Amino acid sequence: MTKKFPKGFLWGAALSAPQTEGHSLEHGKSPSTWDYWFSIAPEKFNQNQGPENTSNVYDLYLDDCAKMKEIGLNSIRTSIAWTRLLPDGKTVNQEAVNFYRTYFQEMLKQGVEPVINLFHFDMPMWLMEKGGWETRESVDAFAYYAKIAFELFGDIVKKWTTFNEPLVHIECGYLYGFHYPAIVDFKKAVQVGYHTLMAHTLAIKAFRDVNMKDGTIGIILNVSPAYAKSEAAEDLLAKENSDLLTTKSFLDPAVHGIIPEKLIQLLADNHLLPETEVEDKELIMENTVDFIGLNYYQPRRVQAAPAPQFPAKMPEDFYVLYDWPDKKINPYRGWEIYPNALYDVAMMMKNEYKNLPWYVSENGMGVANEERFMDDHGMIQDDYRIEFMQEHLEFLHKGIEEGSNCFGYHTWTFVDCWSWLNGYRNRYGFYRVDLEDRFKRTMKKSGLWYKNVSEKNEIS
Ligand code: BG6
Repeated sequence: MTKKFPKGFLWGAALSAPQTEGHSLEHGKSPSTWDYWFSIAPEKFNQNQGPENTSNVYDLYLDDCAKMKEIGLNSIRTSIAWTRLLPDGKTVNQEAVNFYRTYFQEMLKQGVEPVINLFHFDMPMWLMEKGGWETRESVDAFAYYAKIAFELFGDIVKKWTTFNEPLVHIECGYLYGFHYPAIVDFKKAVQVGYHTLMAHTLAIKAFRDVNMKDGTIGIILNVSPAYAKSEAAEDLLAKENSDLLTTKSFLDPAVHGIIPEKLIQLLADNHLLPETEVEDKELIMENTVDFIGLNYYQPRRVQAAPAPQFPAKMPEDFYVLYDWPDKKINPYRGWEIYPNALYDVAMMMKNEYKNLPWYVSENGMGVANEERFMDDHGMIQDDYRIEFMQEHLEFLHKGIEEGSNCFGYHTWTFVDCWSWLNGYRNRYGFYRVDLEDRFKRTMKKSGLWYKNVSEKNEIS
């Protein structure tokens, strides 16, 4: 049966500056933590592929914008690199302004609405040397950058977001050692999270001050809804704690202007409260968002921690993951595939978050060695990806039918891209990038499928 999506629905894909632009130390750009980390520890990066080895968008953006249209995208999300626009945090790099303006204008010419994000894991090295998100200085530095970006591009970009997945630089950088500075310290992680929240808040304030006509602003959060192993009180508490720390920590202040009381209590009980300033509470209350983007890949199956430490040393003292025996899995990424969660997320937005406009800002399936699926004409027959999107869209549609205010669906990603430590291990794009010749892109079968969905604004 045909399932129609609301009029004006955004069909698109997401990407990011550091993962696509290339020329990461050229044209006036200063190093981010990624450039620095790669220079001192290249062996940490899959096949020694660093931030220079991206899909060359800096050179190919005109052609790429045509390719967006070719597969029916009516919108795209990418980011501005803070280190390219303001290499020292203060001085505008005119070459970057020219690049981003022509890039965004070309999108518009092709009928593709740009959604522009300000931070996608790419902390400037000059700021990291001063402590990065651990210092309050980062909050003002980010707010300044945001204001400059709104002033420079606000005439052409109407949809803005502050951060992509703020949890990632907190968890990967300050809890689990995956990203630079690879510190393991729960209290620092909370402080980093708090400064990130304040940086977001002051960027929203800067946006309101700039008073951009017809502009809207939001934040993009990764959501992994928690499902408890059982109805036992301890497992339900584990679920509640997981949701507090990973979902409500940003979603509640962003939408309701309040950090949940239960989260504050949990942190206080465990001596984890961050340093704050008196005016912060009011700033958070006054600067809520216009919309939310939610990146959904997988649920979080949780149970009570078997031997929690007190006070907590790690989030695993509040909940631990468990392996759901019935799960369907993407073996390449190791992530559970559970499309039903998109319906639950849609209902959560409707019932708990004022039914604020929201969209799926990332959803997708990374697959290794995709060349196995290449046909005689060089097209990757990625039916698995089509099936993945179809199933997720069915559950999203159900949520929309029941009144959830979802205005779009973006996949990760448009063209295969460099993915941090994973390099090009898993491919996600509608177009394949040839690693021998990064100027070559070939449409996959999913690109044709998506074009049809977008043009008809329906799935069947
Ligand atoms: C998303 C991030 O969460 O996951 C992207 O926003 C990232 O930046 C994507 O590339 C896929 O991650 P991975 O690790 O599977 O390549």
